[in-house]
Amino acid sequence: MHKINIAIDGPAGSGKSTVAKKVANELSYLYIDTGAMYRSLTFLSLQAQVSEQDEQSLIQILEEMEITLEQQSDGEVQVLVNGERLGEEIRTQAVTAKVSEVSAHRKIREEMVARQQQLAKQKGVVLDGRDIGTYVLPGAELKIYMDASVEERAKRRHLENIANQRHSDITTTKEELKRRDGLDRQRETAPLRQAEDAVLIDTTNVTIEEVVARICRIAREKENED
Ligand code: CDP
Ligand code: CDP
Repeated sequence: MHKINIAIDGPAGSGKSTVAKKVANELSYLYIDTGAMYRSLTFLSLQAQVSEQDEQSLIQILEEMEITLEQQSDGEVQVLVNGERLGEEIRTQAVTAKVSEVSAHRKIREEMVARQQQLAKQKGVVLDGRDIGTYVLPGAELKIYMDASVEERAKRRHLENIANQRHSDITTTKEELKRRDGLDRQRETAPLRQAEDAVLIDTTNVTIEEVVARICRIAREKENED
């Protein structure tokens, strides 16, 4: 048995982070939420009143931004930005509205990818994002591309917003999600797409537990391959 790396990509609300966390827990792997890294940079840029178009100033913020991972006793991994735990503040509408523009800059992506590859240096990691199977970990032993209908994804995000006491209405949530998917799919550098060797999982009518079980089954087979 040997540990492998797992790359999970897909559009917003397809279930990546929920599933990735559970898979990592089940396999005793490390989970790395790459979206949280782009969200953290966006949060800091809003605080510094730097425009999402200003690549040079964004790079400067990123260069000064220290990202560390802290594994908690329950297996959850907390992303620390400059030593601080960022939680709800990186999931606000203000951050969500700008994160795809901030993430589209080539130099930002190069730096983020380098940091993610550093964090994933040892085997036994699960990374989720948009470009993990295609750019960050092209050699990952297991690649998953998760998708679901836009209606289902919007409904999930809406319910999640309400559960977290964020203001939400389903129509705006759906429009915002479509806009962000469009930007992520159409950007020049490392756009969202399914890697050729990725397993496609449509989660529209599938429970979280079923998706987790399927991924863990494939992962265990790969762990036992020569
Ligand atoms: O959780 P949700 O699907 O809403 O988004 P996320 O995974 O937190 O990612 C937020 C945004 O960061 C995405 O819409 C992308 O613009 C960007 N992102 C990216 O460009 N590449 C990644 N590997 C991860 C996120
Ligand atoms: O990370 P991503 O944006 O792809 O999605 P997520 O944040 O993991 O999932 C969005 C919401 O959908 C969460 O509240 C999950 O509990 C829910 N979900 C679901 O209801 N059924 C699934 N098969 C997957 C996720």
